[in-house]
Amino acid sequence: MKRSAVILAAGMGTRMKSQLPKVMHKVAGRPILGHVIAAVREAGVERIVVVTAPSADVVRSYAKAEGAESVIQHEQLGTGHAAAAAAPLLGDFEGEVIVAYGDMPLVTGKTFAASFAARQTAGMAVVAFRSDNPAYGRVIVGADGMLTRIVEYKDASADDRMVKLCNAGIMAAEAKRFFGWAAQLDNRNAQKEFYLTDVPALARKDGVSCAVVEAQEAEMMGVNSRAELAAAEAQMQKRLREAALASGVGMTAPETVYLSYDTVLEADAQVGPYVVFAPGVTVKAGAEIKAFSHLEGAVVEQGALIGPYARLRPGAHIEAEAHIGNFVEVKNARVEKGAKANHLTYLGDARVGAGANIGAGTITCNYDGFFKYHTDIGAGAFIGSNSALVAPVKIADGAYIGAGSVIAKDDVAKDALAVVRGARKDVTGWAAKFRARKSAEKAAKKKEGK
Ligand code: UD1
Ligand code: CA
Repeated sequence: MKRSAVILAAGMGTRMKSQLPKVMHKVAGRPILGHVIAAVREAGVERIVVVTAPSADVVRSYAKAEGAESVIQHEQLGTGHAAAAAAPLLGDFEGEVIVAYGDMPLVTGKTFAASFAARQTAGMAVVAFRSDNPAYGRVIVGADGMLTRIVEYKDASADDRMVKLCNAGIMAAEAKRFFGWAAQLDNRNAQKEFYLTDVPALARKDGVSCAVVEAQEAEMMGVNSRAELAAAEAQMQKRLREAALASGVGMTAPETVYLSYDTVLEADAQVGPYVVFAPGVTVKAGAEIKAFSHLEGAVVEQGALIGPYARLRPGAHIEAEAHIGNFVEVKNARVEKGAKANHLTYLGDARVGAGANIGAGTITCNYDGFFKYHTDIGAGAFIGSNSALVAPVKIADGAYIGAGSVIAKDDVAKDALAVVRGARKDVTGWAAKFRARKSAEKAAKKKEGK
């Protein structure tokens, strides 16, 4: 059967106290909504409809970029009303639908897949977990192990409130029938809302039973405040670190390493303490990232050595055995095999040829305030310390640049030396005379009592 999903994301998220809609806040470098979209896709969903608030243009454009459709829920009248808003797009869908909340970044593809699997025989399925938290609706299960009804805590009797099984908010059903039941919902309850949670009871009246899939509470965490966002981040980091370690990545202090949702670390990559991986990083086997480095949009190949205190920005590509040392920043630059920039350097919009050596304090001056220009450094070149390479400029293979040079305009030929410095002037005895004069002046002032 074909699979579709409705992701509810029209809630106000007022407790975030943010201009940004709640589902756009990031966990592990990706918006919360992006995690939900990826997880339902992992469960084989091909059409995704995101239910959005009228003002949430940013959510709609993000959904579009991620290949999802969106609808507007004009008034926030409850989760059932929100799900029904997807009917114009999915009401005729030949297949199944899963409903999920857009503010739950930790739900895995496995849990969505298990919900689809459970409804193959039962007709419907919901996900539940065990908790005492009064924020959650209670899942009431009959003698046959099937769900009888879900009751919101505010509407629950004292007996129902004793139930520990809680509603996660994930529901799988046959699409056409689901939207039929959603259209029958009413708002006769404590919150005067159209509850999605009333759907299973309507289905039961039509002879369709609902299975209960139990999941871990850690997966079911919803984000409603900044504190919950931070808690979700911590949980996601734990998951990402465990996955990296299990796949053979070496980490000295995994609890201090920050990963992104898409970080690729090959087995036998080694990561030191306090390293941050922003999105888009690949580190190959045998490469080492030392303490306090920050990487984003970068590739580090076999046996390369990065840091400590290095910064790789988008477009940095460090080839095998190359070294990028402390306080070196690399942006949109390829550092070829075995090249070294070990200290205090900026390499932007550049190529550093194989085996080249970049001295401390070298700067590629890539920007004139209007445009960016390229610096090309050939294989085996040697750039003396504290040199400024004013782009566009080319240093050919094997050339030497004398320390402290400013190399502008003309290219430096293969195996040549270029040195640009003011002429040196030595004045014999000058320093001793200078000190004698100044000491005398100081003593005279002291005598005058100044
Ligand atoms: C809901 C469930 C509850 C469950 C809990 C799990 C209902 C009635 N209750 O309660 O059983 O235990 O989630 O976290 O479903 N939304 C819209 N439009 C609306 C209202 C909500 O899009 O009109 C979206 C929100 O953006 C959010 C999601 O639906 O992503 C859940 O809404 P929320 O109001 O947080 O539901 P709860 O009261 O927490
Ligand atoms: Ca909620």
